[in-house]
Amino acid sequence: MDQLVIEGGRPLRGAVRIAGAKNAVLPLMTAALLAPGRHVLRNVPQVVDVRTMSRLLQHLGVRVESVDEGRTLYLDSSLLERVEAPYDLVKTMRASVLVLGPLLARKGRAQVSLPGGCAIGARPIDQHLKGLQALGAKVELEHGYVTVKGASLKGACLRFGISTVTGTANVLMAAVFAEGRTLLENAACEPEVVELARALQQMGAHIEGEGTEVITVDGVERLKPFDWEVIPDRIETGTFLAAARMNPGEILVEKCRPADLQSVIEKLRATGLRVEENGNSLWVKGEGPIRSVDVKTGAYPGFPTDMQAQMMAVLSIGEGIGVVTETIFENRFTHVSELRRMGAHIQVEGRTAIVKGGPWLSGAPVMASDLRASACLVLAGLAAKGATTISRVYHLDRGYEAIEMKLRGLGASITRVRV
Ligand code: EPU
Repeated sequence: MDQLVIEGGRPLRGAVRIAGAKNAVLPLMTAALLAPGRHVLRNVPQVVDVRTMSRLLQHLGVRVESVDEGRTLYLDSSLLERVEAPYDLVKTMRASVLVLGPLLARKGRAQVSLPGGCAIGARPIDQHLKGLQALGAKVELEHGYVTVKGASLKGACLRFGISTVTGTANVLMAAVFAEGRTLLENAACEPEVVELARALQQMGAHIEGEGTEVITVDGVERLKPFDWEVIPDRIETGTFLAAARMNPGEILVEKCRPADLQSVIEKLRATGLRVEENGNSLWVKGEGPIRSVDVKTGAYPGFPTDMQAQMMAVLSIGEGIGVVTETIFENRFTHVSELRRMGAHIQVEGRTAIVKGGPWLSGAPVMASDLRASACLVLAGLAAKGATTISRVYHLDRGYEAIEMKLRGLGASITRVRV
């Protein structure tokens, strides 16, 4: 198992290039199940979740070809042999559930091992299933698997009881062939959902309202393959911005899409980060003391839950008290105990963490518990005095492309060791 060893306290300087968005590419990959033929995905991030999704698609019969060091994927879904996502794959990646909608739409049936809870909360999929049922699908739960069946889906008006990103993606994909009109109310507005809708439109789907809370889908008979470039990862971008805030120096963050992370930019500016936007790049400079701010996560365009842990690392060396409220997931504070081991003063009360900033963190052996918690520990390690060793970095590899190489390019002392 790999560990990351970080020697903290180095200034970060230089340019870093942002990869394609993990949470955009995963639903796009499953959208390839909707139409036979050869789909092309460009700007694919080289992260473990993409490899897991490739394995799942291959299991279903999709031919996956990866070129240009994995940056371009050809997905040929002409012959689908199976409609089941097995336990082994779903348990390592919850996003496997995204095959439900497209398989149901194309094959009239899909089966997915029911994802259990995970490190950040219970994360049920009731809203996905409710949406598919509204389109006429039958849902059965047996032996740990959920099966959805429905040979002829019909358009319907449905309202999500909670804003759900993958739930919206799943039901949107299921609705593309449903007869008549489907209205998705309280739909998620995240940029990754908008991207999916736009790729589906390129395939020939009739979709309107993406990026708003009401998406309309008029069923079509067939779709054609897409050729799509994945948007830059807004969370990876935000993570480098947080690194710039915690360490002296200046960074040019290239190939990003600043419009997608305005709430993060705003918050970091409030802490004193200098940020200049220039088309697809951001120039950032962390100077002076970090002003503590309060942060409350919310659905897009609110502050993303996927940046909450990284922001807590920033606040742990702030000047003052910052209150962090997590409204999306019920258990997304697992990084707190590890940050405390590095000297942070954080008190948790329910879904709120009160972070009393201190002048420094001290390096320590710590353990990553989920993807974004790992990113938080990397940030803390970069800013800490002395050495930090992070174990269980496989969490980080699920969603960050070559993070230690990118950070080394900026002057950080970070090495991966195999133990
Ligand atoms: N929820 C339900 N029922 C459902 C669906 C969701 O109660 O049927 C609840 C969840 O338990 C959670 C809230 O609704 O409390 C929002 O969950 P959502 O469904 O939006 O999350 P998701 O689609 O499973 C995606 C991202 C997550 C990101 C969240 C929130 C992907 C593959 N995953 O998850 O990304 O945190 O949206 O923005 O897109 C990450 O990248 O580290 C990550 C966890």
